Amino acid sequence: NKEDAVQNELLPWFAKHSRDLPWRKKRTPYRVWVSEIMLQQTRVDTVIDYYNRWMKKFPSWRALARAPQGDVLKAWEGLGYYSRARNLHAASKIISEELNGRVPCAVADLQKFPGIGNYTAAAVASLAFNQDAAVLDGNVIRVLSRLFAYGGDVKSTTGKKKLQAWADDLLVPGRAGEFNESMMELGALVCLPVAPKCADCPLQSACEAFGKGAPEKYPVGTKK
Ligand code: ADE
Ligand code: SF4
Repeated sequence: NKEDAVQNELLPWFAKHSRDLPWRKKRTPYRVWVSEIMLQQTRVDTVIDYYNRWMKKFPSWRALARAPQGDVLKAWEGLGYYSRARNLHAASKIISEELNGRVPCAVADLQKFPGIGNYTAAAVASLAFNQDAAVLDGNVIRVLSRLFAYGGDVKSTTGKKKLQAWADDLLVPGRAGEFNESMMELGALVCLPVAPKCADCPLQSACEAFGKGAPEKYPVGTKK
């Protein structure tokens, strides 16, 4: 079954195959937060250099909060969607000036920050605080829609609810950070949009789309 496959196959696969990415080194809330904001709309390959430069320039919430907005926007140059930088800067001021540097660990509190939606709140809660919160991003949605051979529209309200419920069910309690990143990593490295590498996939035996011989049919409803 799928829960067993996640726990016994996917997590060990991730331990062995996860990429050595800079934000995976030291998991402070600040480092996780910055990386997840950058990764929302920008590819991993592009983010790496920006992330390393950012951490040198603004190593902490406090350093970021003290920086002039011009410097912050300059460091973001090339990443696009500048509201992400402005929101990150605003969050740094709230955290260092109002919260004494303490980042809340609950999803509901994280969602109150400017620029933090469901995805980032769950990512920070799970990756930085090990809270049991499941994330849904493009990669995770693709993996889940194939695992369950979900033929409905993944962008619809019903679709999103179903996917979230499946992710919540599959999440291994106490190992949410690992679970989330392993799902993202599987989508990035194996369960590719076109020509997924099912032969190398740790979830193959549990995957309904693979069983039907049509993984590329899923997800439905993402074509622009
Ligand atoms: N995309 C979004 N978050 C990520 C993460 N933590 N690792 C790799 N890719 C990601
Ligand atoms: Fe994706 Fe193929 Fe793995 Fe199913 S078996 S999760 S379609 S890579």
